[in-house]
Amino acid sequence: MDKIKIVGGNQLRGKVYISGAKNTALPIICATLLSDEPSTIRNLPILSDIKSLNLLLEQIGTKIEGKQEELNGHTTQTFSYHTPKPESLVAPYDYVRKMRASYYVLGPLLTKYGHVELSLPGGCAIGARPMDIHLSSLEQMGAEIEIKNGYVMADVNGRLHGANITFHSASVGATCNILMAAALAEGVTVIENAAKEPEIADLISMLNEMGAKIEGANTSTLTITGVEKLHGVTHEIINDRIEAGSYAVAAAITHGCLELINANAEHLQSPIDILRKVGVKVEIRPNSIVVDARNCELNGVDIYTDYYPGFPTDLQAQFMALMCVANGASMVTENIWENRFMHIPELMRMGANINVHGHASAIVRGVKKLSAAPVMSTDLRASFSLVLAGLVAEGETTVNRVYHLDRGYEALEEKFKAVGANIERIKESDE
Ligand code: EPZ
Repeated sequence: MDKIKIVGGNQLRGKVYISGAKNTALPIICATLLSDEPSTIRNLPILSDIKSLNLLLEQIGTKIEGKQEELNGHTTQTFSYHTPKPESLVAPYDYVRKMRASYYVLGPLLTKYGHVELSLPGGCAIGARPMDIHLSSLEQMGAEIEIKNGYVMADVNGRLHGANITFHSASVGATCNILMAAALAEGVTVIENAAKEPEIADLISMLNEMGAKIEGANTSTLTITGVEKLHGVTHEIINDRIEAGSYAVAAAITHGCLELINANAEHLQSPIDILRKVGVKVEIRPNSIVVDARNCELNGVDIYTDYYPGFPTDLQAQFMALMCVANGASMVTENIWENRFMHIPELMRMGANINVHGHASAIVRGVKKLSAAPVMSTDLRASFSLVLAGLVAEGETTVNRVYHLDRGYEALEEKFKAVGANIERIKESDE
């Protein structure tokens, strides 16, 4: 397994190009299954999660063609997807266990073909990650669902029908799955307490471009009037707010200055508010955000993760790394996932002063210096927080299990190197 080696102490300066959003790309790729016609998706990030999902779609029978394309100043991927007739309606365990977002084939395949077999993803490092909302909503729309040998076996006789559905949690995944299912259902579906993340609005705009009738984007009530057929489209996905937020912290923690090209400040209101409270200057430009922490004191601030537009759980670990070297104490509360503090013991091995209270709150008392150590983590965002700690730690930090980072951060070492970090990938074969 590859490792990342970082020698801490460099101030980061320059431009970072923000890539297409992973968590938008995944449902949007699956939405192409809703039409017999080909669709082209632009601005896809070059990530292992996209590769994994493409393999699953190929197994279903999708013809995929890809090319690299210069878009908005940097190299991106464009793929076209065409599924005129699926060869399989099964999402096998081997695919789903590698990437749980494989469950986004559930809504499209069921609504279009009346049958799907999806391996249940089970829990992961950050929590139990249930699918009850996805399944009970589909049942309300007329699906018959059985769990057998670890698989969801879902069937519908004819078309799914519209329903009035209220989610008990504003789940991103369930909102995407039910939007896609309802787009081809008979009649009107209303989702109450839907997720409002920007990724949902992007999926809605793609579905509406395909001919769907969805109202209520950016609100918690979505109304979907089912249509009989959707057509192919060309869609460019939004940029990754979590990647942008992660590099914003890199600027802050190294007392540097980074211009985050293609970052959308509208999607980052809450993290920007927190950075400003910390004492960092954030300038919003038409096509970028400049995060300037040169000559400024970093002050501890409390963070409380919440559904959008609240502070994103996917930036909690990165901001905690920042609080580790900020003045005073910060309280970090994780409200979305029940086990998303796995980075804490590793940060503490680097000298951070953190006390965990229960499973949801941690008090971080800022220290003057972190010291380098070999560290590892169990999920994507936690791994990035260890890279951040490594950027300011004294000495050489090695972050193990780089495959987590490769799932969600495109060209991480290249982007960091270009702005002055002393960072290097050690390939397994080099050891
Ligand atoms: C998405 O996961 C993201 N993943 C996650 O990002 C992100 O942390 C999460 O949304 C919250 O923003 C992708 O988009 C691929 P949820 P998802 O369903 O959709 C509860 C990353 O690092 N819930 O919104 O799986 C659940 O337990 C990843 O990029 C149910 O109770 O999350 C949680 O408390 C990690 N029953 C809350 O809802 C359900 O059926 C939100 O989960 C579904 C969810």
